[in-house]
Amino acid sequence: MSHSDSIQSHLKEARKFPPAPEFAQAAHCGSMADYEALYQRSIDDPESFWAEIAEQFHWFRKWDQVLDWQRPNARWFVGGQTNIAYNCLDRQIENGRGDHPAIVFEGEPGDQRTLTFRELRDEVVRFAGALKQLGVRKGDRVTVYMPMVPELAITVLACAWIGAPHSVIFGGFSVQAILDRVEDAESEIVITADGGYRRGGVVALKTHVDDAAARTDRIRKIVVLQRCNNEVTMQAGRDHWWHDVVADAPTDTPAERCDAEDMLYLLYTSGSTGKPKGIVHTTGGYMVYTATTARYVFDLKPDDVYWCTADIGWVTGHSYVVYGILANGVTTLMYEGAPNHPDWDRFWDICARHRVTKFYTAPTAIRAFMREGREHVDKHDLSSLKLLGSVGEPINPEAWMWYHEVVGRGRCPIVDTWWQTETGGIMITPLPGATPTKPGSATRPFFGIDPAILNMEGVEQGPNAGGLLCVRRPWPGMLRGIYRDPDRFVKQYWSAIDGVYFAGDSSRRDEDGYFWIMGRVDDVIKVSGHRLGTMEIESALVSHPLVAEAAVVGIPHEIKGNAIAAFVTLKAGVEPAAGLRGELSKHVADALGSVARPEQIRLTQALPKTRSGKIMRRLLREIATSGTVTGDTTTLEDFSVVARLAEEQDKAV
Ligand code: WT7
Repeated sequence: MSHSDSIQSHLKEARKFPPAPEFAQAAHCGSMADYEALYQRSIDDPESFWAEIAEQFHWFRKWDQVLDWQRPNARWFVGGQTNIAYNCLDRQIENGRGDHPAIVFEGEPGDQRTLTFRELRDEVVRFAGALKQLGVRKGDRVTVYMPMVPELAITVLACAWIGAPHSVIFGGFSVQAILDRVEDAESEIVITADGGYRRGGVVALKTHVDDAAARTDRIRKIVVLQRCNNEVTMQAGRDHWWHDVVADAPTDTPAERCDAEDMLYLLYTSGSTGKPKGIVHTTGGYMVYTATTARYVFDLKPDDVYWCTADIGWVTGHSYVVYGILANGVTTLMYEGAPNHPDWDRFWDICARHRVTKFYTAPTAIRAFMREGREHVDKHDLSSLKLLGSVGEPINPEAWMWYHEVVGRGRCPIVDTWWQTETGGIMITPLPGATPTKPGSATRPFFGIDPAILNMEGVEQGPNAGGLLCVRRPWPGMLRGIYRDPDRFVKQYWSAIDGVYFAGDSSRRDEDGYFWIMGRVDDVIKVSGHRLGTMEIESALVSHPLVAEAAVVGIPHEIKGNAIAAFVTLKAGVEPAAGLRGELSKHVADALGSVARPEQIRLTQALPKTRSGKIMRRLLREIATSGTVTGDTTTLEDFSVVARLAEEQDKAV
C-alpha cells in the first residue's frame, strides 16, 4: 500500500448511456429519483430498510434484532432462523414455480439437462439425506471439488439444507490447494467427480483428490460423481459413488433450522500472505443481500433465462449462479466448459439456443472475444439478450464499448459490478433501469452501502482524487470473519484505516459521485479476473530445490488484464540449464493451478532491496514493463543491482 498516497487516475471517459425508456419503464427501479430515494432510506434507516426486505423470505423464526454491530463484528437478523436452500427451493414451489426450470445445463460435449424447481428440490433433499447417512452433521465442513455440472449446485444446496458449511474449491486448482483447504477447514469429506470436460479433454478431478488424501489423514469419505467415465480407483470404505449413495438415501430429510448467523460457507481466497484465507459467510444476511442485489442489478423477471459464466468455485458462482438467482425463482444456466470449445462462438451459440436474457461475464473474456473478431458473435441471433454484466476486474472503456455494440447490439444496458469474495454480493453497480452508465465506471453504491475514498490518514478525498476504496457501514452480505483467525480478520480488513472496511482496491469518485475502480494496491494481482497473492507464487517458486529467492509482480496484459512476471535468483553455484524457466513455470502451476503460471520468468543475479532487506517490487514492476527504472531509488541498498537487472532484460523470455 506504500504507493497509495500518490494514486493518480489517468482515465478520462466522457460518454454516458442513459437507460432506454422501455427498459426503465418495466424495471424494478426505473429512475434515478427512485434510486436516490431508496438509497437515502437505506442509509438513514438501514434496519427498517433491510427488515422490510427480509420479511419477504421464509423464516422458521423471526429475528429479534435486525443488526448487532460491534465494530468490526456484525450480526444480522439476530435470533432469526431460516434455511437458504429452503428459500431457493420450497419457497419457490409454494409460489407456483415448481414446474419452472431452475437449472438449464449444457455440458461441454453438448449434453443438456433441465431441472425444474421441483426436480432440483428432490435431488437436493435426496443428496442431503445421503450426506447425513455418510455421517455429516450440522456445522461439519464439506469440501467440494467438482466440474460445473448440476450436481455441483445440488451439492452446495444439500449442504445448506442440512446446515453443513460447504467449502468449494475451483476445479482448476491443484492438489496442494485441496490439501491446504481441507486442512485449514478440518474437513473430513470431499465431494468430487471422476472428471470434468475442459477444452475437449478430461480433467482428472478424482486423481487430484486421491493425491491430496494420500498426504493427510483428515479425509475419511469421498463421494464421486460419474461424469466422464474416465478410470478412477475407488478405495473401499472411504470412496463412494454418488449414484450409490443417493440410491440408498431417504427422501424426506427436513431442512435444518439454521440460525441467521450459522456459517453457510467457507470460500478461500488470496491475500497478502502466502496462506489463502477462509472467508466466512453466514446464512440470513447473505441470503437477503444476494437475492436483493440479484433482483435489482439484473432486474430479474419470472421469465428470465439468466446466465453467469463464472464457475461455482468462485464467489460469483456462489452468489450469482446459485443462491441469489434461485432465491428469486429464476432460471440459472450452467455451462461446464471452455468459452472457445469447439470454437470461439460457443457462448453466443448457447445464448442463442437457450434464448438467454441476462448475461454476466468477466472483462478478460470480453477482451479475448474482441481479439478473435466479431464474426463469432455476429453469426448468432442474440435478440433475446436484455442486459449484460461485467465483474472481476476493471473493464476498459474499449472492451465496454465492444460489449455494448457487438454483443448487446446497442440495446442492452451494461452493469459493471464491483464487489469481492469478502463482500458476499455486489456493492457498487448501476441499476439498469435507472443509472446512466459511463464506460469503465461501476457507477454508484447499492442500497445500504456507504463507500468512501479515503487517504492513508482516513481523510475523505474530493472529486476525482484517487484513494483507498473503503466501506464505512456494515451490510448484510459482508464476511463475518476469516475462518479460525479473528486477529487476521481485524488486521486485514479493519486496520489500514481504523474501524472502516478496506480490502485492497484504489478508486476515485467523479463529480457525479461515480466510482472508477483503479485496481489493487496490496500484494494481490488480478490475472484474468482471478485473484492471486504474490506471496503464494513466491513461496511456490522458492519451494523449488534450485531457487534461492523470488519476487513476483503484475505487468499489464492485453487479454488477462495483468500477467505475472517472476524474478528468480538461483542457489549459489547453480547454473541455469536450458528449460529451467519452463520447469519453474510448471512447478508454480502444479502448486497453485494453471491460473498462476507466470507469463515471464527472469533469472537474475540479485533482487533490488532496501537497506532493511525489503524487496523493492516497484522497481521490478518498472523493469518488467518498461525495461528501465525512472522512479526513486534512494532507499536501494545496492545500486548496481538495478543496472544489472536492466541488462539481464535482454536475455529474459
Ligand atoms: C477484486 C475481488 C467480485 C467477484 C469476483 C471477484 C476486483 C471485482 C470489479 C469491477 C473493478 C473489480 C477488485 C476486487 N474487481 N469486480 N467491476 N471493477 N475491479 O472476486 O476474487 O474476491 O476479487 O476483484 O480488485 O477487490 P474476488
